[in-house]
Amino acid sequence: MTQNILFGKLKDYRLEGRKVTFEFEGGQENLRPSVEVISDTIFNVFVDYDGLGHRTRAIEGELGKRLNADTCQECQALGEGRENGPEGAEKAESTESVESRENAESPANREAAGKADWVSWEGSAVVIRSKKVTVKVNDGFAVDFYDCEGNPLSLAWRGERKEKSGLGWKELMLLAEEGHAASDGKAKGNQVQELRSLDKTDCIYGLGDKTGFLNKRHYEYVMWNSDIPDPHEDNFKSLYKSIPFMLVLKEKGAYGIFFDNHCKSFFDLGKESEDYYVFGAEEGNLDYYFMAGESLKEVVSDYTWLTGRAPMQQLWTLGYHQSRWGYESEEKIREVAKGLRENDLPCDCIHFDIDYMDHYKVFTWNQETYQDERKVISDLKEMGIKAVTIIDPGVKVEKDYYVYEEGMEKGYFAKKPDSREAYVNAVWPGDAVFPDFGDPRVRTWWAGKQKYLIDLGVGGVWNDMNEPASFRGPLPDDVVFTDEDRQAPHSQIHNIYGHNMAKATYEGWKEYSGKRPFVITRACYSGSQKYTTAWTGDNHSIWSHIRMMIPQICNLGMSGMNFVGADVGGFGSDATPELFARWIQAGCFMPFFRDHCALGGRPQEPWQFGKEVLSISRKYINLRYELLPYLYDLMHETEVTGIPMVRPLVMEYEEDENVRNRNDEFMLGDRMLIAPVVEQGARERMVYLPQGIWYDYWTGERKEGRSFFVKEAPLDVCPVYVKAGAVIPKYPARLCVGEDKDDLLILEAYPGEGVYTHYQDNGEDFQYRQGAFNEYEISNQDGEAEVKILHEGYRPYGKIEIVRKF
Ligand code: GLC
Repeated sequence: MTQNILFGKLKDYRLEGRKVTFEFEGGQENLRPSVEVISDTIFNVFVDYDGLGHRTRAIEGELGKRLNADTCQECQALGEGRENGPEGAEKAESTESVESRENAESPANREAAGKADWVSWEGSAVVIRSKKVTVKVNDGFAVDFYDCEGNPLSLAWRGERKEKSGLGWKELMLLAEEGHAASDGKAKGNQVQELRSLDKTDCIYGLGDKTGFLNKRHYEYVMWNSDIPDPHEDNFKSLYKSIPFMLVLKEKGAYGIFFDNHCKSFFDLGKESEDYYVFGAEEGNLDYYFMAGESLKEVVSDYTWLTGRAPMQQLWTLGYHQSRWGYESEEKIREVAKGLRENDLPCDCIHFDIDYMDHYKVFTWNQETYQDERKVISDLKEMGIKAVTIIDPGVKVEKDYYVYEEGMEKGYFAKKPDSREAYVNAVWPGDAVFPDFGDPRVRTWWAGKQKYLIDLGVGGVWNDMNEPASFRGPLPDDVVFTDEDRQAPHSQIHNIYGHNMAKATYEGWKEYSGKRPFVITRACYSGSQKYTTAWTGDNHSIWSHIRMMIPQICNLGMSGMNFVGADVGGFGSDATPELFARWIQAGCFMPFFRDHCALGGRPQEPWQFGKEVLSISRKYINLRYELLPYLYDLMHETEVTGIPMVRPLVMEYEEDENVRNRNDEFMLGDRMLIAPVVEQGARERMVYLPQGIWYDYWTGERKEGRSFFVKEAPLDVCPVYVKAGAVIPKYPARLCVGEDKDDLLILEAYPGEGVYTHYQDNGEDFQYRQGAFNEYEISNQDGEAEVKILHEGYRPYGKIEIVRKF
């Protein structure tokens, strides 16, 4: 049913704090339709269809914490000693406009009138004004947003949804016979849906890890965390992650919509109609946040302010990671480590896939294939290599296995409906039960389990299969889980299962390791960035997947997930030498840089493809290590502003229509543009540079922007361009992050003028939040750079060397 029919004419409104609740002629008071002013640019629109109120897992108290930044220790610590405090604190102040106007009336008056001067009737609509946005609430709970000059930002769509052409059963049978997925085109049974108008030029971004291209307009997606081993294609509707957040770039300005509903939801972004987009869900509430921005960056900043920002990781996590499913024994792991060092390849981490476990039982180690796991881990450490272990949620059903026994005794696993019995499906260990991570007690238990790994000297945890994946058919919708303080069926928990698992893991590592927790996840929901990094799951060694990686990582970044990467070389299928060379070139600029592949395929370490590819790999892994301080600066920027390290060109140059659909180039920060070769056989490629002057990173060739040109790119060249006036901080190449403590910082200064801020801390723990960091300001005048210390709280560099480029 559309809201229009449901609600009818707008009758009255009521005010509680910043929240305006509406009354309509259609009754339905129990639905409590409301608009809440969160800040000058963020508004929550809410209809309580299921009577359970807000059920957010993305915000989890962050909002309250942030709005009261004064009382938030973490926010305060973040802001200490910095010229630009955290956005959260700034935002909290900016909301005062609403508060102060509200406070202008005495509470007694307010109660009597239930009104405030920032809310008023205009004709038949109720108008809510913040400093930056005007919201009009009309009959039928049609909510329109305007900028402060009265230009429409986003309008409710007044019409009905277009019917899709229905198919008869005969046609459906015919399609099914040859194995085609067929839909009868009937509208899905959605409890919740919202239709909003589209302008002709609107482009749409975000939505997490969805396949396909950068601009999501004209496509349709479903949010249902899905483990799909088949090669991911443009037309896939779901993948591992559910991040129901979209950004709309308008001719002027931008806005975001975060549909905070973690049940199965869908987005039709102009596929059904050119004139509107629609989002909705099968269950739960209409609960969305509208964020107005002058730019995409402002919208991302608002979204991450609301749901949390990806915190700084340990410096070593930015190094090269070597992985493979099938490193079956201690000998094999040692052989890989030796191979890395013998081939002079920098590397900071080897990942231990499920092979290390005893019969795939989590928090155990295989004693048949390892003589001494503790010794292997410490020997790797000696070589400068950390161990990261995989942990899946499925706990093997086995008598006397301690994790199973403990969980069963305490009732910590998801249960069959109407029963106290644990629900059993199958994953790697065979019959398995699923920890009920939505229960805070289960998270504490799981957090405690991390001690087993921490005590062994493991450096971080890789959470996999947490959609949750299951081999004996999907978990039925009614399997019983917990959603914090109430029971909830699987259908309502599925999309936050990975989120809750990551949260438990993060909390354990934060508590017991004393370091910044390094958690990697496959499944997640909005807000997971506070706890975990991520990779894009099981891609394949095919050219379409190296191409897809670029928009996928860019959209994940715009969706708050900053520290992300795809399996370099591809997971399934076999990489050719050429594909591997191109992939390592592109992958070395991604936040998470890991070579990983599947059991049984062609080995994929850089030395498996012959001398030429080995030396290309070394060149780019070395470059990655040189760029560590630049990458670290960007990671710091993400923690402070939410802007991702890797971003699409459109985030920097949104006025330029040539970049709105640019799928095969990306920016690393705001001053490095990467245009990787992603075509088999290509030894040149078309490059587009946006406005400004650019320098070819390799040759120094000067290029005028707003131009297309063909760049020669032999197999060892990945085209990279640096913006005029840039300063790029570098370290000398090294075999691992901890090496070379003499601390030489190299500042490469490009022709032109610019100012750059460089950040430095111990790269390990949370001391920086107490002020243990240095911040430098570097002014560049045509390669003559001057360094000024802005904040001194950490051991400074031994030497800073300025290198004039070109
Ligand atoms: C899943 C993961 C993959 C891992 C494999 C075995 O397919 O996505 O990365 O190697 O499981 O654990």
